[in-house]
Amino acid sequence: MRIIVGVSGASGVEMSLSLLRALRNANCETYLVVTEGARLTWSLETDIPIEELYNAADHVYAESDYAAVIASGSFVTDGMIVMPCSMKTLAGIANGFAENLLLRAADVCLKENRRVVLVPREIPLGRVHLRNMLSACELGCAIVPPMLTFYNGADSLQSQIDTVVGKVLMQFNIIPDNFKPWRGVEEN
Ligand SMILES: Cc1cc2nc3c(=O)[nH]c(=O)nc-3n(C[C@H](O)[C@H](O)[C@H](O)COP(=O)(O)O)c2cc1C
Repeated sequence: MRIIVGVSGASGVEMSLSLLRALRNANCETYLVVTEGARLTWSLETDIPIEELYNAADHVYAESDYAAVIASGSFVTDGMIVMPCSMKTLAGIANGFAENLLLRAADVCLKENRRVVLVPREIPLGRVHLRNMLSACELGCAIVPPMLTFYNGADSLQSQIDTVVGKVLMQFNIIPDNFKPWRGVEEN
């Protein structure tokens, strides 16, 4: 599979590293675009060199690179994941405002009826955020917010991230090995 990964400047940018590693484990070819906002958030939230993120992807593009293959619908992909998705990037996707390569790639995926999965992150959510999420959903995006999960014993930050990554990849019918689903209740 070929999957575009967009990383925007919401909190939780390091989740994208786990996402890219899971995609590599699943033999997906990845096309990464990281916004300026994401680079700032990365520098403020994590000590991990951002090169680790770039190295986890197969192809990396600057947000200003409108000549990149992912800017055209003639380059066939299986879709796109935006993780995390800032409220600004959500607004751009929901309104077709393609003012950087991430937004253009999402616009292209939607016009070509390809899967677009958004991992929107803001707390609390205001009306404009909720409206834009509904608009994006109506346009065909899957909205998969990075919510805490308690039913599967995810008791560390990494296991919470793994759960979100698993839920995101399920949208592409990929189940990572470390994903812990609900297993039901044993009857006595
Ligand atoms: C440390 C930090 C955390 C942020 N967290 C969020 C967030 O959770 N959600 C959000 O929508 N914006 C957040 N922002 C603001 C965005 O980075 C900002 O709106 C930026 O313009 C988004 O641009 P982009 O979508 O092109 O990356 C944060 C900024 C910083 C510096």
